[in-house]
Amino acid sequence: MHSNQGTEQDPVHMTAGITKGTTARTTSAVALKDKVPKEFKNIIGSHAQLLKIQEVCDTLLQYDPQAQTNPILDRYANPPNIVVYGPPGGGKTMILSAAEDYIRNRRADSRVIWLDNGFRTHMYSDSTKNLEKIFSYMKDPQGTGLILGDDADTVFSRRTAMSNEEDSRVITAALHGMQPPDYRGNYACIFTTNYIEKFDHAVLSRCRPVFWKGPVTPEQFVQLLSHQLEGTKVKDYLEEQALMDQLSGTEYRMLSARDINRVATSLKLQERLGKKISRSTVEAELQNTLDSLVKAKQDAFVRDVENELYNMRVYEAARKELENSTTHPHL
Ligand SMILES: Nc1ncnc2c1ncn2[C@@H]1O[C@H](COP(=O)(O)OP(=O)(O)OP(=O)(O)O)[C@@H](O)[C@H]1O
Ligand SMILES: [Mg+2]
Repeated sequence: MHSNQGTEQDPVHMTAGITKGTTARTTSAVALKDKVPKEFKNIIGSHAQLLKIQEVCDTLLQYDPQAQTNPILDRYANPPNIVVYGPPGGGKTMILSAAEDYIRNRRADSRVIWLDNGFRTHMYSDSTKNLEKIFSYMKDPQGTGLILGDDADTVFSRRTAMSNEEDSRVITAALHGMQPPDYRGNYACIFTTNYIEKFDHAVLSRCRPVFWKGPVTPEQFVQLLSHQLEGTKVKDYLEEQALMDQLSGTEYRMLSARDINRVATSLKLQERLGKKISRSTVEAELQNTLDSLVKAKQDAFVRDVENELYNMRVYEAARKELENSTTHPHL
């Protein structure tokens, strides 16, 4: 065994999130869990947007390890990095898993790294070295691959005047890895975020932004519910047209795919518990979810207004205090 084992280990072990994609794929013992495989074709939403991500994977799959070039990327091209941004629960993480499976299933030499803050250490400058190792592992001309950064604004947050030197070095290492001078066309980064404005601007400028919301029309929501209920008895009571009409008449724009998952899980649970399922149970469950979302949004609005009023009162008290202290300078 080498004495430097541990420092020179395979960079995949440096990122805590590396197994994320794989664990997400394993068939869960919890049967209530979503069984829809994470494949591009099962992701509901804008086909055109999804195609942009699939195209990156297809481009990387063209890489020729013998020639160490990619026939569809120019010699001095930049990696076709992407940042997928949009509201929570629309399937951004699912897109990353689909991209992982897509390239793994097509090429044995593909490497996928799930990048999270696991590469950071408390040792000064080691975080930068770890990130450099991850990129040099990806650059290795023997194969092709993807760096997947879920919620990557937490990894590459926007630098401010308060950022420390280590954070800046990490960003510099990322920038170099994302646009290296010696790029062979064998890897790319796909990041996701709910907060694109929190992303470091220079990192962002090396990515193509793809807005992703997931399902948006009543038809897509019903299609998703139908997928989620595949193989259950509840499915027999899923009256698609009635649900579509129900959704069209309500605040369905507030729903995300994750909310539909909740509706499906709750219905499956009711079935397991032996409750009587009918068409109206399905409709009621959907309505409950919508109502609680509308309520949560209204509550958040009331809280915002209350906070604003509180801040105004604090400000007013501080202003009065300042006024008093200037009229009575001896105080
Ligand atoms: N567009 C979609 N098509 C099909 N299923 C979806 C879609 N979006 C989400 N789902 C389902 O909802 C679950 C949660 O979605 P996911 O975690 O990918 O959302 P997200 O956009 O990453 O959310 P967050 O921003 O909160 O991380 C997925 O595992 C999947 O079952
Ligand atoms: Mg996510």
